[in-house]
Amino acid sequence: MKLGVVGLGYVGMVTALAFSTLGHDVVGVDIERSRVDALRAGRSPVYEPGAEEYLAKTRALFTTEYSDLKGCELVFITVGTPPLPDGSQNVEFLKSAVGSLRESGYRGAVVPRSTVLPGTTERVVAPYFEHVGYNPEFLAEGRAFRDFFRPDKVVLGYRDEGTLSLLREVYEKIDAPKLEMDVTTAELVKYANNAFLSLKVAYANEMGNISKNIGVDVYRVMEAVGLDRRIGREFLNSGIGFGGSCFPKDLSALIFFSRQSGYEPVLLKAVYEQNARQPYRLVDLLKSKYPLLKGLKVGVLGLAFKPDTDDVREAPSIKIVSALLKEGAEVHAYDPRAMGNFKKLSVEFSTLVRYHSDARECVESSDVVLLLTEWGEFRNPALYDGKPVFEGRRILGKDGVGW
Ligand code: UDX
Repeated sequence: MKLGVVGLGYVGMVTALAFSTLGHDVVGVDIERSRVDALRAGRSPVYEPGAEEYLAKTRALFTTEYSDLKGCELVFITVGTPPLPDGSQNVEFLKSAVGSLRESGYRGAVVPRSTVLPGTTERVVAPYFEHVGYNPEFLAEGRAFRDFFRPDKVVLGYRDEGTLSLLREVYEKIDAPKLEMDVTTAELVKYANNAFLSLKVAYANEMGNISKNIGVDVYRVMEAVGLDRRIGREFLNSGIGFGGSCFPKDLSALIFFSRQSGYEPVLLKAVYEQNARQPYRLVDLLKSKYPLLKGLKVGVLGLAFKPDTDDVREAPSIKIVSALLKEGAEVHAYDPRAMGNFKKLSVEFSTLVRYHSDARECVESSDVVLLLTEWGEFRNPALYDGKPVFEGRRILGKDGVGW
């Protein structure tokens, strides 16, 4: 099928490349010329394992022109939906994509794939197009292609039978349970899914904090708890909390939305609060051994919110490094991918933190080491050479926030 993808950020790029790999004729549109040029030259604007291999092979057309969507039967919209200060969502990019699609004369099916609050597709897209759907993505950074080709489920939200049959056709080759539902239900599925995963992490961290206080290793506890099939072991890894572009923002948006709908979401608020505090547990652990951080050389290994990505959005490292600098520590840092993005976050991070070109150099320059991201290269015990190590993510099983 000839299909379009509007918005070539992380989700859009993966979506365009994956559908093209499945044999569809894909047109990817983005208004940012530099992004389109990079994709055309085979360069991925974000770090994602496999992206450049797919880019080298793809037959997808990347363009800045909406007119190139001519002949497409279905267009996915994957533009950003950034949070607003009150926790709600900015849907201006979605509105403008819908406007540009209309102006270009496109009249086929329109299917947002960006995470949008329930009711958004009905309000923002449906008044302008006859054929409308909503198809949430469940792509985790670092494993997005695998998540696309081998998903646990595919959710097909639709308003009309025509769009539903197009959606069935584009996903024909994907072997997974396919759930068909109205667009508003499909929109809530995405939030409900992410909120539950956030809840699991916050629960594991709560148990971790209790475990630590009584000298128990929370990982032994979760190993047992996770074997209960009603619970499952995944997303019970205790640490310094969840970050990234999805969980924190989606949780805030759902809290906002819930209040607006007339329900005060006590549980979601607690998850938010638990996670907001969790990074400081590592700073507290360090201070319990080194009460005076002033002048202490602290090596921070890992800045990304998780391994295999250069993404630092809402990363626990932000709170931890800020707290260390505030206490007057001399912060040394190393991350295989995320140092560039981390420096851009603030003047303090670009001028006060000392960055190193490899992990060993960072460790050697420090009195103590904090592990913040579970990159594979940090798993080598020889790296630490007897230096005191405090773990925010369980890597070596040394002194950690919940073990
Ligand atoms: C997530 C969802 O997994 C994905 O389906 C959705 O579409 C977008 O949000 P992502 O943000 O890429 O993907 O990361 P994920 O791997 O889910 O991890 C999120 C955060 O939770 C990370 O900071 C991670 O370190 C943390 N986490 C995860 C834990 O602390 N413990 C766990 O057991 C699992």
